[in-house]
Amino acid sequence: MEYKMLFSPMKIGNCEIKNRIVMSPMLMGFGQFDGCVTEQLMDYYEERAKGGTGLIITEITRINDVHGSAAFAQLGASHDYQIAGLHEFAERIHKYGAKLFVQLHHPGRQNVGLAIGTVPVCIAMTRMFKSFPKTLFKIAPKIAPFMSKHNLALSSVSASKCEPSYFAGGRVRALSHREVKKVIRQFIDGAVRCQKAGIDGVELHGTHGYLIQQFLSPNTNHRTDEYGGSFENRLRFLREIVDGIRKECGDYPIIVRLTLDEFYSKIGKPEKGYNFETGLKYAKAIADMGVDAIDVSSAAYDTFNYWLEPTSFECGWRKYLAAAVKKEVKIPVLAANLIRTPEQAERQLEEGDQDFVSLGRPLIADPHWAEKAQSGHENEIKRCICCLYCIQSMQDNAYHGDHGYCAVNPTVGREKEFDNLPKDGNGRVVVVVGAGVAGLTCAEMLGRRGFKAIVLEKDNQIGGQIQLADKPPKKEKLGWSFEDMRTNAEKFGAEIHLNTEATPEVIASYNPYAVVVATGACAVKPRSIEGVNLENVYTTTQILSGEVKLEN
Ligand SMILES: Cc1cc2nc3c(=O)[nH]c(=O)nc-3n(C[C@H](O)[C@H](O)[C@H](O)COP(=O)(O)O)c2cc1C
Ligand code: SF4
Repeated sequence: MEYKMLFSPMKIGNCEIKNRIVMSPMLMGFGQFDGCVTEQLMDYYEERAKGGTGLIITEITRINDVHGSAAFAQLGASHDYQIAGLHEFAERIHKYGAKLFVQLHHPGRQNVGLAIGTVPVCIAMTRMFKSFPKTLFKIAPKIAPFMSKHNLALSSVSASKCEPSYFAGGRVRALSHREVKKVIRQFIDGAVRCQKAGIDGVELHGTHGYLIQQFLSPNTNHRTDEYGGSFENRLRFLREIVDGIRKECGDYPIIVRLTLDEFYSKIGKPEKGYNFETGLKYAKAIADMGVDAIDVSSAAYDTFNYWLEPTSFECGWRKYLAAAVKKEVKIPVLAANLIRTPEQAERQLEEGDQDFVSLGRPLIADPHWAEKAQSGHENEIKRCICCLYCIQSMQDNAYHGDHGYCAVNPTVGREKEFDNLPKDGNGRVVVVVGAGVAGLTCAEMLGRRGFKAIVLEKDNQIGGQIQLADKPPKKEKLGWSFEDMRTNAEKFGAEIHLNTEATPEVIASYNPYAVVVATGACAVKPRSIEGVNLENVYTTTQILSGEVKLEN
């Protein structure tokens, strides 16, 4: 299929983007305490630029180190010393004809304990003692839960003193009037640094419940000064940031990422926050401020599933939000609205839902999504299955000094290594036992190295345990994982033999150079649970495979 709209250029302000594919901002934890770029971070983004993405928007990038730092391993635009690294980063993205915007961010009340107030100390300590990060990451996993249990963390800040957000917890204090002015200044300074570094534009993070949204939302903004109260006053914080950037950076492109509906109605609290009607009013007012594009999103931490969907949500379910904004404004509209395939992306562009398709997790799962679509190899795209392992692992690993991972893409964070796989297989045969996700991925990697993979599967189908996991209602996306892995394994020459038990004789008949055992896992019945051996107790495998039918 030809994707005419997807691969047509379009401008955001004065910046021409070669196609309509945008990498949505995503923190994966490849940074370091001082907010400077790292090789690993640049490799990760560069792979997505190489894979044909038109515009890359970075992860949350801090503008304030003290209460505005949301993670130890995030980018910063809070100091001049970060400019040189950002410049190198931009050059590496530009090599592939892609553009790079930085997402400027302050978490406000959605900040977790250990990150508040500690980053400047960590920077200073790392400068004095090279081994400091190692020591910190040994003790941090123990300190963090202790601090949150005993409420020892410094307060996070917000538009007003308000209840903590679900998930972040802690105590929240109001920013003073002077602090509000200072944070506005810090956003402007962040944009100035990005411009100096040759970054193509900035995105202001006004969604997912972070500080800018906390000013917009009556749920968190109860101020009585000029930054609270009326619709216009709640918008003032953002307006002053936009005006300041315009004044200092001229026509430098600015995108605002906006929550169109906080979706409190979805969790049975319609009286809280702001809804679609107000969100649309905000979108119009923001377009009138003279920004260059609006990136439509939704929700906040309290309503987490409605901005970062688990696997049960239907593709495109919230495209109506972007479509409504597009009808009201004359500037480009971007949106990450659960797009998984190029067909869906093209359709949403054709139907006028949005001007740019933002892909978050799809580009973690497959950095070459765009290039595969453009070259007619869309069937080789490894689709994101919305399992949320990326965000979970990123958060779990944050205090261990490690980054996020992907359930379907083992190359995340190791892009250089996998780009330079040795081609030393010389056609030698390797037998892989098991056609589950491990066996199929192994077969692809062997093929990439020039080995001939023979996959033996005793079942009559591929997929192993995942082939059961996708059986319950609304879990179909999980099945995409092994379908796509099969396509890619076969592309690299793997032979898959179903209904074939890997007996010593069968294996020996291939005269293999090596054998990989990838037989996966079995459901267990923990003996410690009383009654586990009763006749009416079954494993998930027995039920999902249909061996046991549940009745009554
Ligand atoms: C691991 C992870 C980190 C994220 N970090 C950010 C972020 O830094 N800034 C942001 O605006 N959104 C962030 N998001 C949300 C994505 O930009 C995107 O809106 C969301 O994943 C839904 O789009 P998708 O279904 O295409 O992934 C993150 C999402 C994930 C999975
Ligand atoms: S497949 Fe899972 S881990 Fe990978 S990007 Fe999608 S949601 Fe994240």
